[in-house]
This record gives sequence, structure tokens and C-alpha cells, in this order.
Amino acid sequence: MLPAYLPNPAAAFFGGGIPIDGGRRWSDGRRLLGDGKTWRGLICGVLSGVLLGLIQVSVQDAGILAWLPRLTVLSVVLLAVGALAGDMVKSFVKRRIGKERGAAWPIADQYDLVAGSLLLLLIGDFGFAAVHLTIPVVFWILLLTPLLHRAANLIGYATGVKDVPW
Ligand code: CTP
Ligand code: MG
Repeated sequence: MLPAYLPNPAAAFFGGGIPIDGGRRWSDGRRLLGDGKTWRGLICGVLSGVLLGLIQVSVQDAGILAWLPRLTVLSVVLLAVGALAGDMVKSFVKRRIGKERGAAWPIADQYDLVAGSLLLLLIGDFGFAAVHLTIPVVFWILLLTPLLHRAANLIGYATGVKDVPW
């Protein structure tokens, strides 16, 4: 899951600049995605996740941690892209229900990346997903994600990368 977990903190660290929605508004008068979703965050986030995943692939190719599920280049790309795609879909819906950029939206804020990455993995590489997304694996992902999310956001807040601790 590391290629799915890294893109969000990397986007927060590297993000900023031109928003993906270009400032455009939906028919409800609110922003499509908002200023919290930028091209730089998206590109740097995806690249960070893919890079980490490629390191994992090469480490496993060298026979290290061979007992762990074998990542592939495709699965790494799907996980990283899916994580931030899920984040964007979350922001789109978040704007539609009237929540401002940066407002807390419990559950959705934590699980957007899980839903996005696992869904894209299922669509893009069903064979891989069918083998590796077992019930215990999904159970541990669902259990650990909010804890990791909380820890990452507290670190982000303490270091000034994030304006809010969620
Ligand atoms: N970020 C970015 N581009 C992205 C995703 C995130 O630049 N595609 C950066 C933004 O600076 C954002 C920060 O990472 O403020 C934290 O991300 P997140 O919590 O997902 O965004 P929010 O600001 O909370 O916006 P939203 O309410 O839309 O989730
Ligand atoms: Mg947020």
C-alpha cells in the first residue's frame, strides 16, 4: 500500500500553484474541486508513489522481502494514480455538499485514497487484485489507514506543511 499512501503527503508537501479545476465553478456556484487540488500536487504525488513503488519492485527483484506480495510496475502505477483520483473525487463531492476546501469530512477524508487505489487496482489489474486483496489484507488496510492518516496529518501540522491537523 506504500505507493498509495505516499501520494497524499507528497501532494501536501510539494503542492500549490495552479488548481486542477482552473478556478472553474459547478452549476451550484461552488468550485469544481477547489484550491486544495493542484497540478503540482497531483503530478508530484503520483510520481512519488510510483517512484517508491519502483524501489519496492527492484528490492523484491533482488530477492529481498520475497515473502511479501510481489508488486508489479502496473500495480504500482494503479495504486498511486488511484489514491489521488480518489482524493479528487472526494473533493468534488465535498464541494457539492457545501464543505469548504480544508474542512474536515470524517471517513471520506481518511478512506478516499483506499477506495480510489483499490478500485483502480481492481479495474486495471483484476488478476493482481484477486490474488492479493484477501479479507485479512483488506481488514488491515481498513484498520491501519485512519491511524496512518492521523499520524501523517499531525506531523504535517507540526512541521507547517498543513494548516490544519486533519
Ligand atoms: N494538494 C495538492 N494537490 C492535490 C492534493 C493535495 O496541491 N492533488 C495539497 C494542497 O495544498 C492541499 C494539501 O495538499 O491543501 C492537503 O490535501 P487535502 O487534505 O487532500 O486537501 P484539502 O486542502 O483538505 O482540500 P479538500 O477539502 O478538497 O480535501
Ligand atoms: Mg484535507
